[in-house]
Amino acid sequence: MLTINNNNDVIKYSYNSLKYIASNTSQREKAIAITDEFNEYLKNVSGKCIDIGCGPGDVTKDIILPALDPNAVVIGTDISESMIDYAKKKYIKEKRLEFDVLDIQTKNLPTKYVSEFDLVFSSHTLHWCNDITQAFENIYRMLRPNGVMLILFVTSHNIFNVLENLIYDGRFAPHIKDVNKYTWPLGKSINPRKQLKELLQTLGFTVIHCSHRDTFHQDANTDRFFCKFF
Ligand SMILES: C[S@@+](CC[C@H](N)C(=O)[O-])C[C@H]1O[C@@H](n2cnc3c(N)ncnc32)[C@H](O)[C@@H]1O
Repeated sequence: MLTINNNNDVIKYSYNSLKYIASNTSQREKAIAITDEFNEYLKNVSGKCIDIGCGPGDVTKDIILPALDPNAVVIGTDISESMIDYAKKKYIKEKRLEFDVLDIQTKNLPTKYVSEFDLVFSSHTLHWCNDITQAFENIYRMLRPNGVMLILFVTSHNIFNVLENLIYDGRFAPHIKDVNKYTWPLGKSINPRKQLKELLQTLGFTVIHCSHRDTFHQDANTDRFFCKFF
């Protein structure tokens, strides 16, 4: 969804939580797959966890929380205030869940997040970070000793090509203020798995598992096709 305001600026992070929930079948399926795959580990995580880029919070509540030990607590965070407002209201009764606005690319990570988490989870978010190194540096600082990061993000997708083409399309180009926001981490990499692993090791992570997998999603209803531009 490309939204343009009266000043002809592309509106950043303009979200409709309900529209997102109506179209996130694929993201949910893949979050279920990754939590199933690492079930043996996750079910023993009983401390403090964070979900980076939680969107409207449904994956955090329905998929991540049940995969953990019943004593675990989770903070869902997202750059979008509207997503977090929605999640806070929707899950107000969930004692083990909190939500907070956080840009994972921030250069000033709030101290309340430093060395706080036993598990950092993130699904379908980190490919939106044009400064992926900063994002991983922050995640590294967020982890407690022996804490674990479990992430899933997209390295290449046709939609990225569509977005890149917009830069050169006269109808959209005038609205694009920062071309850097249209670059995708590892998108041009010949060996994204190797490059990611090396980046993480450089930052201090011990990489236990890192895989690059082909996948696809089909949806008969094109109205459910949802993407965001920023
Ligand atoms: C495709 S949604 C994924 C939501 C949820 N994790 C899921 O799997 O359904 C991507 C989310 O990443 C968030 N996001 C994008 N850039 C971000 C950033 N720099 N920091 C935190 N969240 C970000 C967006 O606001 C959006 O809610």
